Amino acid sequence: MNRFHTPVLLKEILEFLNVGKGKKYIDATLGGGGHTKEILKLGGRVLGIDIDEEAIRFIKENFKFEIFNFKLVPVLGNFKDIDRIAHLNNFDKVSGIIFDLGVSSFQIDQSQRGFSYQKKGPLDMRMGKSLSVKAADLISVLSKNELYELFSKLGQERFARVVSGRIVRARRIKRIETTDDLMKTLEELSGKNQRLSAFKRALIGKRVFQALRIAVNDELNNLKGALPKTLRLLKKGGRLEVISFHSLEDRIVKDSFEDFENKNMGRIITKKPVLPTFEEVKQNKRSRSAKLRVFERL
Ligand SMILES: C[S@@+](CC[C@H](N)C(=O)[O-])C[C@H]1O[C@@H](n2cnc3c(N)ncnc32)[C@H](O)[C@@H]1O
Repeated sequence: MNRFHTPVLLKEILEFLNVGKGKKYIDATLGGGGHTKEILKLGGRVLGIDIDEEAIRFIKENFKFEIFNFKLVPVLGNFKDIDRIAHLNNFDKVSGIIFDLGVSSFQIDQSQRGFSYQKKGPLDMRMGKSLSVKAADLISVLSKNELYELFSKLGQERFARVVSGRIVRARRIKRIETTDDLMKTLEELSGKNQRLSAFKRALIGKRVFQALRIAVNDELNNLKGALPKTLRLLKKGGRLEVISFHSLEDRIVKDSFEDFENKNMGRIITKKPVLPTFEEVKQNKRSRSAKLRVFERL
């Protein structure tokens, strides 16, 4: 068990990657280096990118030997710039690229980052300090209609209209600054002022938080922009592997891979997404919604 984050679908990622000694790989979402560590063990060299200063700091402390020996090059940056970062670091013809999307357990567990509806903290949700807009800013400046769009599209929340109405009413009285402030606005969502059950409130909270996180970090646009750039970085036979955690991400990956195949740029290796085994889900609940898709460059 990695104290930073337990890597999901690790065995599957490595099987599809077919790591070779001295070959180059890019880990576009380095996190705590769970996937990268195993690629390094198998003799691969890795360019690891993460937008989170704390993740890069963790890597620099825990992979000193590999960094010193030029086996691992950690870079603080956004994977939407993957082409530029790869060129700058001489990783422009690689054998594989992996994306393990979303947030790490380390990020979720730190209450001051504001990612979890279950932990009291400021409504921040930025994956890196380079981003300027926090979730609290969105909550305070978006109109009722914009909030509705956000929660219904990015959170797929059925009560989006009621939620946005409640937020607008609550923020007239006091700025919504913390995770707790936001969760309190969800307490009385039903018209008859009945309190929602804790279970329902948690479900809505989860989707509302997901929507805000995606918006704050511009997650879908970053992914949409980055995937085509990876094709120019992959060697013939090189593989692109993406693990997604919700249907909005998975749709982008699926559509992009189909588009690449239609343009004869390679072939889809996973006709259906690869899911974690029952055993993995039992040991690591976070893996439950993971889906892995793999594309091979021609
Ligand atoms: C699920 S974690 C990766 C965990 C890693 N595979 C491991 O096993 O430790 C996702 C990581 O991607 C980073 N991330 C998310 N969006 C990013 C982006 N646009 N550019 C760079 N890193 C990003 C997050 O900061 C987080 O550390």
